[in-house]
Amino acid sequence: MIIKTAAELAAMQEIGKICAITLKKMGEALKPGITTKELDDYGAEILASYGAASAPITCYNFPGANCISVNDTVAHGIPDNTKIKAGDIVNIDVSAVKNGFFGDNGASFAVPPIKNNMQKLLAVGREALELAIATAVAGSPLNGIGLSVEKCAKRHGYGTIRNLCGHGVGHTLHDEPDSIYNYFEKRDKRILQPGLVLAIEPFISIGDQYVDEIGDGWTLKTPHCHQVVQFEHTVMVRADQPPLILTVPE
Ligand code: CO
Ligand code: CO
Repeated sequence: MIIKTAAELAAMQEIGKICAITLKKMGEALKPGITTKELDDYGAEILASYGAASAPITCYNFPGANCISVNDTVAHGIPDNTKIKAGDIVNIDVSAVKNGFFGDNGASFAVPPIKNNMQKLLAVGREALELAIATAVAGSPLNGIGLSVEKCAKRHGYGTIRNLCGHGVGHTLHDEPDSIYNYFEKRDKRILQPGLVLAIEPFISIGDQYVDEIGDGWTLKTPHCHQVVQFEHTVMVRADQPPLILTVPE
């Protein structure tokens, strides 16, 4: 969507904050022994306490309120009886809707003890998101986002997942513009407009550069089960300054 009024901005900031608080609290609740279903129920309770509804359920009838993807599951992991263990890498993606406005954010977390190589992968994932967000200024090419993600990954010896993309968000979970690639797509001529709301979500991989659905209709893994991390924010594009991040907890 393109935010045009103060009321629309306020509504997007409200749902952004709810998504961010839910993600933060779920991350804090991650500990060995908790099941991904218990974690998901906790997230669902937080969303409900703010009057928000899970977007994956609302939009796709996903079998969980949030996507929780453990270790070699890259995205769309279904909450179940899997127990979190020490050393796991867990991606939590929270998207939700309130009053017809959608927000979307995600992050990968490491459950200690964390191996050095995983510490580095997580740091690069965070850096990729930060650098990609900084490119999203009105008048700039949209494909600058993917260029920035791809460069950041390569600089550190990693790759990006080419068939998972960021997207517009606002009136729907996957709004215009679609397909914000996590690599440089030179044929993409789109230019960023002020007020445009984007969910920017780099996926950084230690090797494989695409994911396949494993046959349950949801769960996405790489062919060689390589570890991937994802970090995501919903942001609003502005003129002459970096975007406003809407998915902040306060
Ligand atoms: Co998301
Ligand atoms: Co998203």
